[in-house]
Amino acid sequence: MRLAVFASGNGSNFQAIAEAVKRGQINAELSLLFCDRKNAYVIQRAKALMIPVISFSPKDFPSKAMYEAEILHLMEEEQIDLVVLAGYMRIVGPTLLEMFSGKMINIHPSLLPNFPGLHGIADAFAAKVAETGVTIHYIDDGIDTGPIIAQTKVKIEDYDTLESLEAKIHKIEHKLYPETLAKLIKTQQGESQL
Ligand code: GRF
Repeated sequence: MRLAVFASGNGSNFQAIAEAVKRGQINAELSLLFCDRKNAYVIQRAKALMIPVISFSPKDFPSKAMYEAEILHLMEEEQIDLVVLAGYMRIVGPTLLEMFSGKMINIHPSLLPNFPGLHGIADAFAAKVAETGVTIHYIDDGIDTGPIIAQTKVKIEDYDTLESLEAKIHKIEHKLYPETLAKLIKTQQGESQL
């Protein structure tokens, strides 16, 4: 089982996944990081962890379809079985979706279907809801709408600030993503032996 992580920014979830692979919690190979922003901090994390990095931007291509076709080509070359989005700040288009339907998952910092979109944590905080959370889901052609694989709830306390809520959410993400990937991959490996 070969994984590719797609990320655009800080990369704390990428790091949590890479460490889980390293300690054997996730029974797979983390074959590469794909990053669409050449200066993103996640690239430094990958280099420190000795994980191969491929980085290019849609701006390097005449169209989004051509950008995605290049990614697809890479995934095929690297024989990637599962694409793990971890802070990849782009909507996945039809070129990638068609080939990776059911093989592309994402983490979102809210209890979906509540608060989809770019600002899941801030939107939940501003709405003053009693609880929010973290969701792992398959990617489909909507924005944060695909079938849900796992969720963890997080209480928003009266004393929480946006910063403290963000910290709580990220802590849960770093536990839930590796755990969910480990389970999913174990199940898939079991099924392929039947
Ligand atoms: C996470 O909160 C994730 O849920 C969202 O983007 C953020 C990425 O953080 N999709 P990081 O780059 O993994 O630190």
